[in-house]
Amino acid sequence: MKEGRDETVNDSHEQAGHESAGEVPLLGLSADELLMTTRTVRRRLDLTRPVPRAVIRRAVEIAVQAPTGGNRAGWRWIVVDDPALRAEVGRVWSECAEGYLRHVPADDRMLPGARHLQRIIGSVPALVIPVIEGRPPERDLSWTASFWGSILPAMWSFMLALRARGLGGAWTQVHLRREQEMAELLGIPHGEVTQAGLVPVAWTVGTTFKPARREPVEEILHWNEW
Ligand SMILES: Cc1cc2nc3c(=O)[nH]c(=O)nc-3n(C[C@H](O)[C@H](O)[C@H](O)COP(=O)(O)O)c2cc1C
Repeated sequence: MKEGRDETVNDSHEQAGHESAGEVPLLGLSADELLMTTRTVRRRLDLTRPVPRAVIRRAVEIAVQAPTGGNRAGWRWIVVDDPALRAEVGRVWSECAEGYLRHVPADDRMLPGARHLQRIIGSVPALVIPVIEGRPPERDLSWTASFWGSILPAMWSFMLALRARGLGGAWTQVHLRREQEMAELLGIPHGEVTQAGLVPVAWTVGTTFKPARREPVEEILHWNEW
């Protein structure tokens, strides 16, 4: 029964079994280090080192521990690792990125990395598309929030699980401009499910990443009133 599993803690035997099935050792980052150093990786993706399917399988297994609205689950994960298909998916993604990037100011610090990813996307070892059952609801905000909130935390958990193992990628959503075309390319039933994004996945070149510069927490944290 689902309720019976709420807040249960896996016993250590089960945990150990999972680790050995995960194929690659963990980097040994603390939870805080993992959360603070999981960066968007575009220029440090190793295009020469194959990504074992077992690693992606394990990252998805971890990702689907994320919460979903009404405990609906209903997710699917499409992994494109066939070279010819990657090139096709990469072409669509890259054209969508062009439409976006041409409006980004030339001095935007993200631009060189984004342009680099645009060039290499079709050669990244695996392109992973999380998909959620249903189409975005045209109802009040709570339905929209619940819809996206039922796949995006899992997409982030997937990226955290990769980083924990020395792999990385980038959260991208730019191809959703042509979501239907991508669906047709991959045989995704467009009327029934929605793509949430695309994560290019590779081993990272080096495993040291720093926390990003963010606004001081004092400027964004409010107690009791705005
Ligand atoms: C909602 C969302 C959409 C994004 N879409 C793209 C994208 O289409 N292409 C891309 O290269 N990066 C994309 N990114 C990555 C952001 O550009 C990146 O998170 C930002 O530059 C900050 O870098 P950091 O993640 O290393 O802190 C996206 C990130 C988010 C959260």
